[in-house]
Amino acid sequence: MEKIVGLAKRRGFIFPGSEIYGGLANSWDYGPLGVELKNNIKKLWWERFVHRREDILGIDASIIMNPKIWEASGHLEEFSDKLAECKNCKKRFKAGDIQDETCPACGHRSGFNMEVKDFNLMFQTHLGPVLDNKSIVYLRPETAQGMFVNFKNVLDTARKTLPFGIAQVGKAFRNEITPGNFIFRTREFEQMEIEYFVREKEWQKYFDYWKDEILNWIHAIGINKGRIHMIEIPENERAHYSKRSIDFEYEFPFGQAELYGLAYRGDFDLKNHEKHSGTSLKYRDPETKEEFLPHVIEPTWGFDRSVLAILLDAYEEEIKGKEKRTILHLSPQLSPYKAAVFPLLANKDELVKLARKIYEDLRGNFFVAWDDRGNIGKRYFAQDEIGTPFCITVDFESLEKDDVTVRDRDSTRQERIKISKLEGFLHGKIYNNRRQGT
Ligand code: GAP
Repeated sequence: MEKIVGLAKRRGFIFPGSEIYGGLANSWDYGPLGVELKNNIKKLWWERFVHRREDILGIDASIIMNPKIWEASGHLEEFSDKLAECKNCKKRFKAGDIQDETCPACGHRSGFNMEVKDFNLMFQTHLGPVLDNKSIVYLRPETAQGMFVNFKNVLDTARKTLPFGIAQVGKAFRNEITPGNFIFRTREFEQMEIEYFVREKEWQKYFDYWKDEILNWIHAIGINKGRIHMIEIPENERAHYSKRSIDFEYEFPFGQAELYGLAYRGDFDLKNHEKHSGTSLKYRDPETKEEFLPHVIEPTWGFDRSVLAILLDAYEEEIKGKEKRTILHLSPQLSPYKAAVFPLLANKDELVKLARKIYEDLRGNFFVAWDDRGNIGKRYFAQDEIGTPFCITVDFESLEKDDVTVRDRDSTRQERIKISKLEGFLHGKIYNNRRQGT
């Protein structure tokens, strides 16, 4: 984990948040390479689950919504963690994280007061200039509710028949008592969620279907499925809205923990929003004219946990003799740069000119890096460390034969490719990459 945190900072994937002011409680900012990785994950997800399907539509709802939504969804009442307060130093911890009578903060063995009021995880703020109880609003703790409250709007405008889904990617906020493990648990994070509306009698079929779809996604982004464990969540540990839940846990370096989740939410959300809003959220079957509340299967993907698992899974240190090569074996579709272009020597104008032309042309279609510093070996290593799948070198032969050397990150094999064929070559390698199933 330390190696990933170090690499992420050193190469511009992820920086400590508010760093020049000493940071802010486990917050993290995505840097120039991190935002590319994130955008690539999001693009892949959106293409896979929205653009390539007829039955799922996307939305982008507000983060701050009418506070009645959180009353109806049960979050005001239920979305809380049990607290344990150290009897000595009075510091508070998530009760589930306490192992024995020893305080993780002060080390005293005086035990914990468990009677402390449950702590609601929703962030509160005020709408407008008056700071009274009537102006209290919340930052959404899950993107899901944006989809439930827009269920009718989507249904009326898109005229979908069951089963169909609504997808959303966006920020969620939770005032976690114990954030930590880098970007694993933070107070501000992103989710990629689908609310999939089905007939009640078909819930089991679609629950199984989405279980497979989550596994397929895990494979598509290059995460080793052998490190994934599906855990059936017992009733007393399930979220208040869930009738059945499976967690997809990943073997993180700090232990096996939740990466993604799948829940059968029944008609809990639509029923409660119908009751609290007074608006009918029933679906009308176009053939039988029967009206009823659909049930919901919810696959949910933590965005930041995806980034963490992808980085951890892709990381490799290869030692050959005295040389150590750090490689991020990112799926080419996800890697921030698709290729890097180098002139063999930076002081030979004709090499630089041709390399520059190739670089500019490729940039029309791919995000490409440029590097003309130091020896070629070092430049390769610098790209390997950030996951760039291909390095393109322009040398003296290129000037005569109109070709370049293309070096593959994983095999380090090199082949000469005609400049006129370069774009097609890269496209085939990046987007038809079957090795990782993308
Ligand atoms: N709408 C259902 C829902 O929000 P959840 O299991 O509470 O379910 C979904 O959250 C996903 O969001 C989790 O599987 C996890 O990947 C991610 N997640 C939850 N809390 C997080 C946190 N504090 N920091 C980062 N990711 C988090």
